[in-house]
Amino acid sequence: MSKPTQTLAWRNLLRESEGFKTPDFRLEDLFAGDNNRFDRFSISTDHLLLDYSKNYLTEQSFKLLIDLANECKLPTSIAAMFSGDKINYSENRAALHVALRDPDSDLSEVGETLDKISGLVEALHDGNFKGHGGTQITDVVNIGIGGSNLGPVLLCEAFADFVNEIPHVHFVSNIDPSHLRSTLSSLNPASTLFIIASKSFTTIETQQNAEMARLWLLNHLPDERALSAHFIAITENVQAAQEFGISTDNLFPIWDWVGGRYSLWSAVGLPIAIAIGMKNFRELLAGAHSMDQHFQRTALHENMPVIMGLLTVLYTGFFNSHSTAIVPYSQRLKLLPTYLQQLHMESLGKSVDVTGGPVSTNTGEIIWGTAGTDAQHSYFQLLHQGTRFIPIDFIAVAKPMFNKEQEQHQYLLANCFGQSLSLMRGHTDSEAPHKNVPGNKPCNTLVLEELSPYNLGSLIALYEHKVFVQSAIWNINPFDQWGVEFGKNVAQEVFDSLSKNPVTIDFDASTNGLIRFIKKWNN
Ligand code: F6P
Repeated sequence: MSKPTQTLAWRNLLRESEGFKTPDFRLEDLFAGDNNRFDRFSISTDHLLLDYSKNYLTEQSFKLLIDLANECKLPTSIAAMFSGDKINYSENRAALHVALRDPDSDLSEVGETLDKISGLVEALHDGNFKGHGGTQITDVVNIGIGGSNLGPVLLCEAFADFVNEIPHVHFVSNIDPSHLRSTLSSLNPASTLFIIASKSFTTIETQQNAEMARLWLLNHLPDERALSAHFIAITENVQAAQEFGISTDNLFPIWDWVGGRYSLWSAVGLPIAIAIGMKNFRELLAGAHSMDQHFQRTALHENMPVIMGLLTVLYTGFFNSHSTAIVPYSQRLKLLPTYLQQLHMESLGKSVDVTGGPVSTNTGEIIWGTAGTDAQHSYFQLLHQGTRFIPIDFIAVAKPMFNKEQEQHQYLLANCFGQSLSLMRGHTDSEAPHKNVPGNKPCNTLVLEELSPYNLGSLIALYEHKVFVQSAIWNINPFDQWGVEFGKNVAQEVFDSLSKNPVTIDFDASTNGLIRFIKKWNN
């Protein structure tokens, strides 16, 4: 079945979902007289709970969603991914990020690279990795963008309370020169190590920043031999890295079967391991692996990623939802929505299916969100009383980071649970309509037992597999990103025009006009 809308389950869901659209439908009524709804519509592993009971689900509609997954041959797709089939058909590649965290992987290069990462981390922490002049490295600057940046930044922020002080890890991604300049302004070249994280080694932002960093270093250490002591590269493009001046010992491989937005588990995770230590990095991998096993082995109706993915297919396909808000009630997870934006939207922002034909239903949703409780003082008004249908993923952490913070942490949890309750229940004020809160807003609540590398690894892997489930139902390829490639090429054309005097402009009137203004205001 190439199109989900042609399945019997889809047709049955069309009929069944009408029951949730009648004026008198109340989400909270699904709980009335059913004390077991939470037990039936929640799943927990040792350290992670998914409460999906506050969703538009009855036993019958839930069964139809599972039928949809089976008619779309989801189990076959899952097996194909784990077995290394070239499911990234447009680039003729496998998508084997699960092998990066499988301790029993038969890909020897995975274990060899982990050992190399471990060796560098140890050398940096015990001071044996020194700069060109023999100075201990005090600062590491990771230069990368997208999947070569967002995962490491997320993890270093999540565990900032526990990171090793020396070396301090910094991140530069934007081609805006102020990003690199502001980062380097307080650093000592003699004790700074640069990591160039770029699978392709052609991404213009990273190339430009790496070149500027090299000039900064050579300006202070005028000896080309200094490069080998101050630059490391994580890339598939070995030749380009060597041409830049990276020594073989400082090259960390990434392979074509690792997609950029699925790469934090690879050598791209080197800054994470430097910041939180190798033991914790291995815990991160172990947590992701535990979720892989759950995804691969658990029946569809008890499978967290499957259920979360099917719920998004339901809301986008039958309720015309356009976005999902992801609200972590954890300040240390404030960057999680940003990370999940790339994971979801670069994977699922597709309008052509694997047959090359147009998709038959809405595909990737817009992912947005920030940390709670700040979110309540920003956009929750729209969620409570606005006109939009926006499902929400609430994410909470059961235990406080430090025991002495228990009471204030309970305020945090009370806000999280209180918001999901009030969004479901709503409020009617017959005297003052402007105070009416419609309610009926569906949500998932994910609870981590504690914020640990293992548990965050499981959570991130959960979302990776949720994205995969959606792609399998929609029959689209989640592992390529041709749209981004197109945008990059057009940007290069504009750069070529902007950077020439006299300006050669042969674009549309708007772009031509914009370029002319830039020239006028800069001359
Ligand atoms: O955004 C497009 C993209 O290719 C991402 O998929 C990737 O994470 C990012 O650019 C950086 O790519 P590279 O690691 O090759 O520099």
